[in-house]
This record gives sequence, structure tokens and C-alpha cells, in this order.
Amino acid sequence: MAPIFLDNTTQEYKNWSEKTNTDTHSVSDFLSGADQKYGAKQAKEMIGNALQKHIQTIDPSVCEPGDEDAFFVADLGDVYRQHLRWKKNLPRITPHFAVKCNPDPMVLRLLAALGAGFDCASKAEIEEVLKIGVDPSRIIYAQPCKTQSYLRYTVKQNVRQMTFDNTDELYKIKQIAPDAELFLRIFTDDSASLCRLSQKFGASMENTQELLTLAKKLDLNVAGVAFHVGSGASDPSAFRKAVSDARIVFDQAAALGYQLHTLDVGGGFMSDTFDVMAPVLGQAVDDNFPSSVRIIAEPGRYYTSSAFTLACNVIARRTVEDAATGTKSYMLYMNDGVYGNFSSIIFDHQHPVPQVLRTTYNKDGFNYSFSESMTDSGYASAEEGRLTPPLDNDRATNNVVTRNPIEYSIWGPTCDGIDCISSSWSSPETLDIGDWLYFDDMGAYTKCSATRFNGFTDRHMTVYICSEAGARALVGM
Ligand SMILES: Cc1ncc(COP(=O)(O)O)c(C=O)c1O
Repeated sequence: MAPIFLDNTTQEYKNWSEKTNTDTHSVSDFLSGADQKYGAKQAKEMIGNALQKHIQTIDPSVCEPGDEDAFFVADLGDVYRQHLRWKKNLPRITPHFAVKCNPDPMVLRLLAALGAGFDCASKAEIEEVLKIGVDPSRIIYAQPCKTQSYLRYTVKQNVRQMTFDNTDELYKIKQIAPDAELFLRIFTDDSASLCRLSQKFGASMENTQELLTLAKKLDLNVAGVAFHVGSGASDPSAFRKAVSDARIVFDQAAALGYQLHTLDVGGGFMSDTFDVMAPVLGQAVDDNFPSSVRIIAEPGRYYTSSAFTLACNVIARRTVEDAATGTKSYMLYMNDGVYGNFSSIIFDHQHPVPQVLRTTYNKDGFNYSFSESMTDSGYASAEEGRLTPPLDNDRATNNVVTRNPIEYSIWGPTCDGIDCISSSWSSPETLDIGDWLYFDDMGAYTKCSATRFNGFTDRHMTVYICSEAGARALVGM
């Protein structure tokens, strides 16, 4: 099958090695739990290969402007594994991927092929999902305060499911989209989440009766209840409470003559805490809702965070000498920062961890090195996180790597002082201009909120790989 070029900034690498293509594992292996660790390990190797392959085509000292730009490696196999993990742990809940989190076209295509639905919050997001052939019935317009012209667009496109949380919105919907299927979004306790949403959205439990009564009076079709416990939620009891509040609203609606059929449990899932959250949510749903009630969710970061790795080039370095202590540290300037893909530092409260990308491209002695970050600083251990081969003897004897930690601060390319990725990072490597750093877990709320401030691009290339044969087949890689 021909490679898929989604646009002129997108590049697909495939068939990395015969071993990778033949040494694959079945869905049933995965579901039995036997394969998850193996798949992730194999994926690390593929990501490392893809990073290397791309940077080896670039010589920052002679390349054209932009050739050395930061770039992503996206492993669609990771998204696929997360989907299987979801199905295994929350079989009753149909995920509707929150497009806002990462509207990457290949991710959307894969999730569409896997049967997921989509949570869209704007006309452009709805358009993007419809463009790949998704039926409008698989879309929820999950924005309780909608733009009128967008609402008219949804009516034309036959997207009928949408949320509301206030009386003004009900009047607007009555006027523009009277046949919509409405989900009453309720307030949650999101105090244990990274990004709180309930200060902006969600009807309080004191107001739900009034809203349902008005909806009835306006002859609107209320079909369900929705909530969101906050993005990056960490307290499973928030899910338990929200589900039981939703039950109360179902009963209030029934008393008014509505037969609600759908509960939307929103997003808030993270890969790290999923195994703790999922059973609590699953149990709460089963305890409160009969199997006739359809349960959907709107996960975003859970699906894409770990699938994207970002590589950035060191464009400048300043040496900082401390005369008093006689020590030396460095300020490293990269070609991506908080106005770009590290927007997640500002908007999503993230702390991306740099790792050194070793390369064999070293014709002029750039100090590439192995990827061992300082384990005593809480960074990934060399054995678990290694993307690169061990240090070879030549380079070791050239003293490229020192065992004494070197102190760095890491900055983005713009003129703004806020553009700081890390104020303090230690590495045994001596890093210099032209070197590459990479960052794991850069797939959620990163490129979608990047800007072009100072004239830097917000359209970074994505190299797609796929560490799962099942996913490769679905997207035609
Ligand atoms: C309405 C809605 N649904 C889903 C999401 C996705 O949340 P998460 O990425 O935490 O799963 C968000 C995130 O802001 C949201 O606002």
C-alpha cells in the first residue's frame, strides 16, 4: 500500500525492520496482559530508530532554514494499545476521543477505524472528524456554551448530540437546533485534577431541576447527563460522586416524563492512574445504572500523551561561569518552547523531562551521548528509558561524557523570558550547539495549543511509526 502523505509537513516511515514487521503480537495476547510490556519495549526501539533516522538527514551547520526544526515521532501502536486497555478495563463505556487534546489526522483515522466516537468543541473539530467519514451520530458537540453559527452548522451536518448547562443555552438551542439530543452537564468536584473545568462549566445540583423543567416546557429532547471530573484527575472518588449525582438527575428527569438513555462520564483519564480509576468508575456505573443505559466517555490525554515523542535541536548555548564557586553551568536554547509544543507547560501544568538523543552523526565532534539522565534527579533510568545504544568505547575515551553532573537551564527560541522549559536540569553529558534533546509523553495539549509567536512555526513535522500490526492494518501503513 502506498504511503499516506497527509500534508506536505507529514512524513511516514514504515517497515523499519523485518523483525518489527514479523514479530507482532495478537490482540488476545494483549488482552491477557502478556504482551503489554513487550509491545512497549519494542515500541521504544522503533521510536529511537525513527528519531535517529530523521536527525541523521540533517546537518544543522549547513541545512536550509527550518530543516532542523523540532519534530514529533508518533507511535500509532501506542494509541492502539491504549484503546485495547480501555476496552479491557471499561468494556461498558464507549470512548469518544476529545479531539481538542490532539487533532492529529492519523490518530483520528485510527480511532475512527477502532469504532471510537468523538468529542468536538468547535466547527473545525466537527469538520475534521466528518472529513474522515465518521457518521454524525458518533460525534458529541461537548461544549455547553456554543457559538450560534457553529450550532447552525451542526444542524446542517446532522450532528445532534450536544451538552448544555444553563437556561440561556436552552433558549438558543430551541431557536437553532430544536431537535438536538441534549445532555445536561453537571458540576463535579474537580479539586484533585490538573486542569479544573467546573469553575467554568457544569450546572450545580441545585439547578438541575429548574433546567430540566425549562427544557420540558420548551419541548426539548433531553437524552442524558454529562460530567467531567477535571483533566488529569487523580481522585477516583470524584468519579463515584459524579456518577451518583448523575443518577439523581436521571430520576429528576424521569419524574418530568423524560426517559434518559445516555450517561457521558467525560474525560480526566491518565495512563498512569487508569488502572486505579477505571475499576472505581466501572463499579459506580454498574451500581447506579442498568445495562439499558448507554455509557460514553470523552477521554483525551489518556489516548495520545505517551504516543508522541518530541525531538528538539539545541540552537545556542551560553556558558555561565560562577567566579565565587568556580563552577560552570550552561543555558541551552532549543528551537521549540512554551509558545510552541511546550505550551503544555503553561496551559497543562506539565513538566517535560529532557533526555539526550545520541546520534552517530558526529562528523565535527558534536557531543552526542547516551540517554542516561540523572536518576537521582528523578529522571528515567538508563535501562528502562534507553532509546539509544550504549556508549561506544571511542567516545568514552574521548571524554565526551563525564560522570560529574553538569547543570543546565533549557530555554525556547523566542525573545520572551517566560519561554523556559526547565530552570534546572542535570546531565552527565556536555551538550553543545547542534545536539538534540528528546521528550517523551508530548502527545496531549502540546501542538494543538502552539502559536507562531516571534515567527516560529507551529506546524512541526510528524514521523509516524506503528508498533502494532493491528493498527498498521487499520490505517493502511
Ligand atoms: C468537555 C471535555 N471533554 C473531554 C476533555 C478531555 O479531557 P482529558 O484530556 O482530561 O481526558 C476535556 C478537556 O478539557 C473537556 O473539556
